[in-house]
Amino acid sequence: MKQLIEKYNIDCNFESQQAILYTNEDAKEKKLVLEAEAYQMLGIKGGHLVESIPFPIPMKKALVMENQAQFNPPLAFTKVIIDQLLKNNVKIFENTTAIDIDNNENTIVRTAKGYNVICKNVIVASQFPFYEGQAFYSTRMYPSRSYVLGFTSKNTYPGGMYLDIDQPKHSIRYAKHNGGEDVWLLGGESHKTGQYHKEDDDPYSSLMKYGSRYFSIKEWQYQWSAQDFTTLDKVPYIGVLNNKHPNIYVATGYRKWGMTNSIVAAQLLTDIITKTHNPFQQLYQPQRFHADPDLKKFISNNTNVAKEFIKGKIANKSHEQLEPNKATKTKIDGQTIGVFKDNNNHIHAVDTTCTHLGCECNWNQVELSWDCPCHGSRFSYDGKVIEGPATKDLKKIDYKI
Ligand code: FES
Repeated sequence: MKQLIEKYNIDCNFESQQAILYTNEDAKEKKLVLEAEAYQMLGIKGGHLVESIPFPIPMKKALVMENQAQFNPPLAFTKVIIDQLLKNNVKIFENTTAIDIDNNENTIVRTAKGYNVICKNVIVASQFPFYEGQAFYSTRMYPSRSYVLGFTSKNTYPGGMYLDIDQPKHSIRYAKHNGGEDVWLLGGESHKTGQYHKEDDDPYSSLMKYGSRYFSIKEWQYQWSAQDFTTLDKVPYIGVLNNKHPNIYVATGYRKWGMTNSIVAAQLLTDIITKTHNPFQQLYQPQRFHADPDLKKFISNNTNVAKEFIKGKIANKSHEQLEPNKATKTKIDGQTIGVFKDNNNHIHAVDTTCTHLGCECNWNQVELSWDCPCHGSRFSYDGKVIEGPATKDLKKIDYKI
């Protein structure tokens, strides 16, 4: 990444920063010490333990790693890379949802609007793979959502990228933004998609409370959320989909480390397709399955999915007193219906059965969406797909209160 930034002179705030893991728990403190010892044994330079961090957050020990990269990927970096691709005659089709692959005589990618792409090799890099080819990704990954707040502070940012290893996790870093003041980024409050502790959980308010306790806030400026998939052993699946489809490749399960893992995927898949030796091929191989701890995780993931499947089929509460900007579920002729009342008192009713594999979606009050707890599909309040694996909207229901 650094080489690309230098080669194309990309102005994306690339800089070297310390990355710091910290904990306030005795058991985790031991983990950090073991990690530091592992660096020494392996000859990894730049790692050392410290007793404090420059924020008033309770902590017992921190592990610092020097010389880690921080940069701004979405616009500056990606824009230059896209321009280079276009110069090399790569074609990019936006708003074209790939929904399936036929892999018989030819390999054909089918799209939602009926167009086909015939190709030699296909890389499925759609976060959750839109094509599973009997590789059963739906049973080998789980989706989670996490949240970020951007704010300015009365203090100067002290440098560093921080991540606590206790629960709930929080991360802190900063970004230079449009030549203005530094924006501090506070992330955390992750949870499995479509699964909430309480009906009115508001991760942004929880983050704000945490931020106000430990930082000198000048102004809250931004908020956004992200969705990520975690594999059974927490290492991404990157490589050939399975033996039946040697010309179809997958890259998924980045577990919030997309900036790094996407570069790994690009290098690894290039090497596999051009038949160049890459020592990491085995490590990321999507077909791997380790008996332990994979098996335990595999069972707990799928028990969780099954539970959500059954639980979701039960409607929750009365809808008669529904307030504006709120949603509930109700039952008509045995069918569960999600009902949302907007601020103009218009009712939007949908069949909350997920169009991917039939789990029941749950309401997300913070983002006003119907989220599927099984594999992370999300739909707007009126049923439109926001993110897959589902490719079809929820069915609208004609319903009046
Ligand atoms: Fe798979 Fe909903 S995302 S059933």
